[in-house]
Amino acid sequence: MSQHPEETAGSFVGRKVTTNRLSEMKAAGVPIAALTAYDYTMAQLVDAAGVDVILVGDSVSTVMQGLETTVTVTMEHMLYHTTLVRRGVERALVVADLPFMSYQVRPDEALRNAGRMVKEAGAEAVKLEGGQVIADTVKRIVDVGIPVMGHLGLTPQSIHKFGTYQVRARDEREADELRRDAKLLEEAGVFSIVLEKVPARLAAEVTESVSVPVIGIGAGGGCDGQILVSQDMLGICTRFSPRFVRRYADLGEEMQRAFERYAGDVRAREFPSPDESY
Ligand code: KIV
Repeated sequence: MSQHPEETAGSFVGRKVTTNRLSEMKAAGVPIAALTAYDYTMAQLVDAAGVDVILVGDSVSTVMQGLETTVTVTMEHMLYHTTLVRRGVERALVVADLPFMSYQVRPDEALRNAGRMVKEAGAEAVKLEGGQVIADTVKRIVDVGIPVMGHLGLTPQSIHKFGTYQVRARDEREADELRRDAKLLEEAGVFSIVLEKVPARLAAEVTESVSVPVIGIGAGGGCDGQILVSQDMLGICTRFSPRFVRRYADLGEEMQRAFERYAGDVRAREFPSPDESY
């Protein structure tokens, strides 16, 4: 790890982010910044801000579709949103989630769906949830040339099995399973692993134990990078506020105030003015 990560970070600014670049960042100790996006406008803003990885997450269900879980997201939803995001991005690596049951049934189906995400929607990598049970599938996808990001810890597609969105791997049995799964994913060829909602100490240990970058969400500061849902950190989505979300803005309140002012102006016939008319 570099003794001066802030100096080294400069050499990664402005360059197109690739999976190789992310592994160079891990080696150099340069933290990786990742955020989600689901549409062109947001993707453009996130990319222009220099964020390294843009995930088209299946959190599209809770953020954009108003649903409680991610399990009903389809391939068509993900292809659509990934296409929109791809158009807005020049520098960041665009990763798309494969939705629940698009990769668990058969490896050849998983391969076809990963291929669609790359060919039809322009994703540069796909993300799959799970460890041992999907390791062979991950290998098949990586072998044909599609980079795969893993996702361990709290895996929201398994919500009906877990029953809650609480912190995972607090007990030794599950922590061991997580350590093993991270190694299996590394061996299967993932370029990175997302670790969601696990104890910080375990996340730091797993981050040290694998050669690929580990991106944390609710997994403490010892990971190689961090990811948040953009609408959460902007204060647009306030339905859930887990403690790992830091609010960088209160855009939800600001947007609502702007909508109220607009409606008031229309009702008072103060909009449009002569200058805003032809
Ligand atoms: O779908 C998503 O947004 C995710 C992140 C929370 C990592 O998987």
